[in-house]
Amino acid sequence: MEKLRMGIIGAGVWGKTHAGIYNEHPLAETAAICDLDRSKAEALAAAYGVSEVYTDYREMLEKADIDAVAIVTPDFLHADIAVECAGAKKHMLIEKPLATTREEVYGMVDAIEKNGVRAMVDLHNRWNPPVNTAKQAIDAGELGEPYSAYMRLNDVKWVATDMLSWAAKSSILWFLGSHSIDTLSWLLGSKVRRVYSVSREGILKEAGVDVPDMYLTTLEFENGCIAHMENGWVTPNANTNINDVKYTILGTKGMISMDCSSHNLIQKITDKVTTPDVMVGNTVFGSVKGFAYEAIRTFVDRVIDGEPFPVSLTDAANASLALLAVLESAATRMPVEVEY
Ligand SMILES: NC(=O)c1ccc[n+]([C@@H]2O[C@H](COP(=O)([O-])OP(=O)(O)OC[C@H]3O[C@@H](n4cnc5c(N)ncnc54)[C@H](O)[C@@H]3O)[C@@H](O)[C@H]2O)c1
Repeated sequence: MEKLRMGIIGAGVWGKTHAGIYNEHPLAETAAICDLDRSKAEALAAAYGVSEVYTDYREMLEKADIDAVAIVTPDFLHADIAVECAGAKKHMLIEKPLATTREEVYGMVDAIEKNGVRAMVDLHNRWNPPVNTAKQAIDAGELGEPYSAYMRLNDVKWVATDMLSWAAKSSILWFLGSHSIDTLSWLLGSKVRRVYSVSREGILKEAGVDVPDMYLTTLEFENGCIAHMENGWVTPNANTNINDVKYTILGTKGMISMDCSSHNLIQKITDKVTTPDVMVGNTVFGSVKGFAYEAIRTFVDRVIDGEPFPVSLTDAANASLALLAVLESAATRMPVEVEY
């Protein structure tokens, strides 16, 4: 069987991850890499023996022999690229969030549908083993009817101050809240109807990153479920894991609790205590493992076999539209209905 030829747009932190996975996948290969910064694209191309390097994605779409594209640019730079990719009839894996404005969301969905290409957004928490196990239990009726949920998904401060050069142009809501909203909607089996959010700022501002520190959000779903969602970028850097992840899903007959970050599965104790990541993305005998990688592998598998993606474009669009309501609510300090 012929390999799926991927073009990667964005050769930064996560673009490297994509390249590693396509390199390992028996049915995929990276055929071209594009980054505005040629040296980044060249370095990544050299690491995986990729011969075609571009700095202009339009030129890549025109000249490179590729079947699909991975859009791995910063959160707020997915839309124009996706619309061009759709016009060039390329399937695409778009990093989360789908987009950060209403016009972009509608424009992307329209372009993707009109051009008959396939697109998946990398909302990989659905592949998270505890989350996926919870979904299976809910679908089997073990918890009764979904009733309410609590979901904390925070990062240590370092992600905003050091890891992402563009953190101030995005927010913890786009960066992690996109996962939270999607996970909650998926587990509770409903779209978000109304939100009320409060945010606080100061810690990151003082550190030179002009963006809110955290959002505490109450969500009401169309099926009556209610949830609390916490997204913060200011967990102290000394936290034993880069993430702070705690979930509870309550049903009418049962409950599931998850502690995906500070678990007792493994602790490393040297001059400090850490909880090494063995869930999101670790390596085993040099091979990349973890649920963040599984989502990208699944994209390749489903393009090849033509089966539906586990995350629909509509679900990804709904997550962005719900987050826009959360942002509006935090700005106005008023409850906001989500407009779909
Ligand atoms: N799924 C996950 O677990 C995960 C993890 C990290 C990041 N992400 C997502 O991946 C995306 C990228 O994040 P990152 O951490 O790799 O960012 P990054 O800043 O490390 O890399 C982004 C790259 O995109 C390039 N770029 C920007 N505009 C471009 C354009 N028009 N054409 C070509 N290249 C362009 C930049 O030069 C940069 O090298 C974000 O949407 C982020 O939310 C997802």
